[in-house]
Amino acid sequence: MALLPILSYPDPRLRTIAEPVKDVNDEIRVLIDDMFETMYDAQGIGLAATQVDRHIQLIVMDLSEDKNEPMVFINPKVTPLIEDKKPYEEGCLSVPDVYDKVERPTKVRIEALDADGQKIDKEVEGLLAVCIQHEMDHLNGVIFVDYLSRLKQTRARDKVRKVIKARGKQPQPVKR
Ligand code: NI
Repeated sequence: MALLPILSYPDPRLRTIAEPVKDVNDEIRVLIDDMFETMYDAQGIGLAATQVDRHIQLIVMDLSEDKNEPMVFINPKVTPLIEDKKPYEEGCLSVPDVYDKVERPTKVRIEALDADGQKIDKEVEGLLAVCIQHEMDHLNGVIFVDYLSRLKQTRARDKVRKVIKARGKQPQPVKR
């Protein structure tokens, strides 16, 4: 397993459109393991392959308190099941320390493949519905700050720059 560098906003590589995964093989499963390790290390609840500069349709997620319910979505298709949108405070590992409300439909259908290449087809609500839409956006080159005002986007850019700079000054733990 390995920790992967996470791209930070406004890195243009975050705008890349992800390609479908052709074959759910061991190579993909190694990437999945690395993405989980990277996500848990960064204390995130979701990570799209785009964020680690791999432009394939792959999302990992774990919304559980104890971080023991890993979910994998390969080639996901997400369909809103209600028009009603609700605001939810979102954050993103690619936009560290920036949180703001984004409105999204709160009930969606997810069709995807899991890490074994088995079909997933389920209707979900709440946090999972919000999170899968946030991660789907990444696969389409969209970042949650795109929904915010220009002013907030500028502030987010400044904030991320400061956070990255501050991190650079801290002694870094040895990571493999
Ligand atoms: Ni994100």
